[in-house]
Amino acid sequence: MYRTHDCNSIRKTDIGKQVTLAGWVNVTRDHGGVIFIDLRDREGLTQVVFRPEENAQLARQAHTLRSEDVAEVSGRVAARLPGTENPNLATGDIEVIPNQLRILNRADTLPFPIDAEPQNEDLRMTHRYFDLRRPRLARNLRVRHRVAKSTRDFLDSQGYVEVETPILSKSTPEGARDFLVPSRLTPGKFYALPQAPQQYKQLLMVAGVEKYFQIAKCFRDEDLRADRQPEFTQIDIEASFVTPDDIFKVTEGMLAAIFKATRIIEIKTPFDRLTYREAVSRYGSDKPDRRFEMELVDLGEIFRESSVKVFRSALDAGGVVKAINAKGFAGITIGQADELTEIAKLYGAKGLAFIKIENGEWKSPIVKFFSEPEKAALKSKLKIEEGDCVFFGADKWEVACEVLGRLRLRILEMQKLMPPAEIWDFLWVTDFPLFEWSPEENKWNAMHHPFTRPKAEDMPLFEAKKFPDVRAEAYDIVLNGVEIGGGSLRIYEPELQEKMFEALGIRSEDQQSQFGHLLRALRLGAPPHGGIALGLDRLVMLIAGEQSIRDVMAFPKNNRGMDLMTNSPGEVDPRQLRDLSLKLAKDKKL
Ligand code: AMO
Ligand code: AMP
Repeated sequence: MYRTHDCNSIRKTDIGKQVTLAGWVNVTRDHGGVIFIDLRDREGLTQVVFRPEENAQLARQAHTLRSEDVAEVSGRVAARLPGTENPNLATGDIEVIPNQLRILNRADTLPFPIDAEPQNEDLRMTHRYFDLRRPRLARNLRVRHRVAKSTRDFLDSQGYVEVETPILSKSTPEGARDFLVPSRLTPGKFYALPQAPQQYKQLLMVAGVEKYFQIAKCFRDEDLRADRQPEFTQIDIEASFVTPDDIFKVTEGMLAAIFKATRIIEIKTPFDRLTYREAVSRYGSDKPDRRFEMELVDLGEIFRESSVKVFRSALDAGGVVKAINAKGFAGITIGQADELTEIAKLYGAKGLAFIKIENGEWKSPIVKFFSEPEKAALKSKLKIEEGDCVFFGADKWEVACEVLGRLRLRILEMQKLMPPAEIWDFLWVTDFPLFEWSPEENKWNAMHHPFTRPKAEDMPLFEAKKFPDVRAEAYDIVLNGVEIGGGSLRIYEPELQEKMFEALGIRSEDQQSQFGHLLRALRLGAPPHGGIALGLDRLVMLIAGEQSIRDVMAFPKNNRGMDLMTNSPGEVDPRQLRDLSLKLAKDKKL
């Protein structure tokens, strides 16, 4: 038997007992020949004290212990000397006086000290099995497990059935590039790894499953960021005979169960809702972080007849004039102003006008163009006070909103404003546009995916091909400014699905070759259905208080899509390529 207790469970009441512990040597200290070690396992730490006067041979053996050696210690539990207790440690009242030490394994030179936060992420990822020993990451893995378990328990209690869908599957358009897997048995053909189980879950509705879920691996070959990985996990849900309200209710119940299991808190349901139009108008984002104020304020009324040229011309062209008031930001530096102007231009603005309010004076080259009534109206609408800094966006609605939304987030960072702790601001964003225009492809794309229904009220607009105005029965769920999930009601009528494909410029031969299975299934009595998928990694990241989803995944890829630990992607044996009928076009231009 390696252990009678874990390293976090011995208390005062155990004093005098003989115990055996096993774990890693966390630290060793040599106090004039007396060796103190903290033995660590996944639960915590216990102090073991080797005194030469009690057992000289054991103390000599302990002297050879180094950080991260693996050891088994047997001994007697004793009270720590008065004044040496450690109130920060659950086992801080006791120590173990050993009578046996077995060194189970030695650790080589460590890649980095385990008790410091290594700055070099590549180093951490190369030795991820070691990195994961750090308590923060070890805790994150357990939070993740709790989230998955409470998800399964809750959905099971609601009659949802977990069904696995294939990984070797067919390309399904979720807007990213596919990962492809060449087939050996049918040379020249490829499987695609699923970007999401979207079509399979809809086919399961045709199959009569009615309530499906899956904790599903998804694969998307896209550019990576802190909250994006090429391989990630969704809590994927689909149900038949449902309205959006039904999906909202099951999602809210599930999140309440997850937060109860992981953070021991009751979150307030139902969650607030904003339409896409409202969210973007007020926060400049379809995933608003409402923990901060600084809303976008519409100034159309004030400047409609104005002689301020930039504002007037935007309004005359059918656009908007909006502003945000950054409270207490009049001390903005030239460098910050330049950076914000760059951001504004990056998102399509022609310039960035702003006014600093200092010593009772409005400072900006544009102030001289404002009339007194305009200034008074601005002051009251934007609640302008000494020390504020007001930023203007005059442009098409989309551009002005996006620019001010991006500035808002960057200004909050610049001001180093911290959101109030322990606020969980859940929000549904509804009524997304069905389409979005792709200037690169010169065509309409589905904003969510091609299986999403137009809103019933907007069917006439859809039929009339007024694509920019058609809203979808689609929704996102946002938590503290992070999109944690999205879903929609689906098209279940084959004719409507064909029309949708047509609107997206998918020719009918291609419809058959890419989506023939779905179109055939819809002809066999498909029930009305809809669903949602939540990004499990992002949810766990927020619950664990992390900044990156990499910190809640056991073996993530780095931002170049590489696994530095196993060195993958890597080269393969030419024989393997031959088996797959593949040739590398290494030097030749394709
Ligand atoms: P969507 O593409 O919006 O919807 O994805 C759902 C949620 O998955 C998370 N997510 C990601 N997490 C980490 N890394 C990524 N690369 C990544 N991409 C997406 C996000 C997102 O909100 N089939 C539809 C759902 C449906 O209609 O039911 C879908 O996949 O949190
Ligand atoms: P201009 O008349 O082009 O010299 O612009 C006057 C001020 O307004 C400058 O500070 C510009 O950066 C700013 N500006 C120009 N176009 C816009 C716009 N569309 N939205 C907000 N500010 C603008």
